[in-house]
Amino acid sequence: SLVPVSVLLKTAEVEGYAVGAFNCNNLEIVQAIVAAAEAENAPVIMQASQGAIKYAGVDYIAAMVRVAARGARIPVALHLDHGTSFDQVMRCLVAGFSSVMIDGSHLPLEQNIALTRRVVAAARPVGVSVEAELGRIGGVEDDIAVTDREAFFTDPEEARYFVEQTGVDSLAVAIGTAHGRYKGEPRLDFDRLTRIKELVHIPLVLHGASGVPDEAIREAVRRGVRKVNIDTNIREAFVGAVRRKLDENPQEIDPRKILGPAREAAIEVIREKMRVFGCSGKA
Ligand code: G3H
Ligand code: 13P
Ligand code: ZN
Repeated sequence: SLVPVSVLLKTAEVEGYAVGAFNCNNLEIVQAIVAAAEAENAPVIMQASQGAIKYAGVDYIAAMVRVAARGARIPVALHLDHGTSFDQVMRCLVAGFSSVMIDGSHLPLEQNIALTRRVVAAARPVGVSVEAELGRIGGVEDDIAVTDREAFFTDPEEARYFVEQTGVDSLAVAIGTAHGRYKGEPRLDFDRLTRIKELVHIPLVLHGASGVPDEAIREAVRRGVRKVNIDTNIREAFVGAVRRKLDENPQEIDPRKILGPAREAAIEVIREKMRVFGCSGKA
């Protein structure tokens, strides 16, 4: 059965590694994530965004991940990524998700706290763990100048207050990453991460990790990140393989011959990330 993210992160905290959280939208990516985790003997988090749920349907996502987990030797969690409303969270609880994120990061602090508390109160009694976000992670497409972006970074003192007030299980922090493909190289505020870690005693989550150099990810893990989110790098590997296949053989009409190699390419990139995060061999 699916395990809460909090359970996976508790062990990661003790042993000092991060668990990979990979976004899924379709059958092939669900299969790729679980195959990679099995090959690496790693615990794994599959996560679905609202966009993924809209595309595939919440029950399809939950059913695919349940089937994947049932056949696997490694522990699997199913997590809502960037949940934006209480109702969305409720639908995921009903569908059998083992963890949810409520992203109130665009709200004023007290409203973020109120929304997160409400989600924690609903999820905890049914054994579902909750991730929240403080500071704003944003997308590379937001086109915010690097200096302005710092205004959205997580404030360590505020993080401590937020965690005390909400009782949330894990916290996504804004320390210089962004969602999507970076234009240059991202620069992470490691001192801020360390300060947050000193003040906040729950696992920290790094979003927007695609395109962050391996060494920077390793440093973030050394400084206390316990969950690392990857979507864009899977998209690139998957669609890149589709494109190569169609370039090689423009006459191909069998979806299996196009999506099969894409699934293989996704497995490879996911395995590489797991080794960087340190969760390989930890299942
Ligand atoms: O956080 C963003 C993830 O990469 C999901 O993206 O909303 O396009 O599914 P999406
Ligand atoms: P990337 O697409 O930049 O890897 O971000 C993934 C993420 O943070 C999902 O919540
Ligand atoms: Zn994210």
